[in-house]
Amino acid sequence: MSDHIESTLVLLKPDAVQRKLCGEIIQRFERKGLLISALKLLQLTPEMAGRHYVEHVGKPFYPSLIEFITSGPIVAMVLTGPNAVKIVRTMMGATNPVDALPGTIRGDYAMLMSCNIVHGSDSVVSAARETAIYFSEQEVVQRSLEEYYE
Ligand code: RTP
Ligand code: MG
Repeated sequence: MSDHIESTLVLLKPDAVQRKLCGEIIQRFERKGLLISALKLLQLTPEMAGRHYVEHVGKPFYPSLIEFITSGPIVAMVLTGPNAVKIVRTMMGATNPVDALPGTIRGDYAMLMSCNIVHGSDSVVSAARETAIYFSEQEVVQRSLEEYYE
């Protein structure tokens, strides 16, 4: 895999905010070496949640997924670095916390598939699409990437 710089869209879901885990989880991403390019706290409307999870429309879990993701504030951020999409997905762990290994975010903080703490884009294309739901172009800051090329 070539080490190309990517940006990915990460959500700390309502369970993470309600359990006051935002600082710990953001610290994990920062310690790994990812750069924060954008960050905000907001509560999703059903319309925004529908845009975010459009790929899951019609699935049995869709109504409860929308209900959960709109149930309280979330933190949205854009994280940037080499292979950021895959690195974040690896750090998150498996979708079902039953399968998420200790040391991953879901493995360390989650018990239920329906409350699995964190979202990360599954591709560069998804990341671009999802980022536009949460941030204007002006809100995504170009970070200095020199540290990756020293
Ligand atoms: P996310 O989009 O939230 O980062 O999670 P993911 O990529 O790991 O998983 P995805 O397949 O995109 O599913 C989105 C969220 O829907 C819930 N889900 N429930 N069979 C089920 O009951 C089921 N499958 C998925 C999970 O909360 C998952 O995070
Ligand atoms: Mg997904």
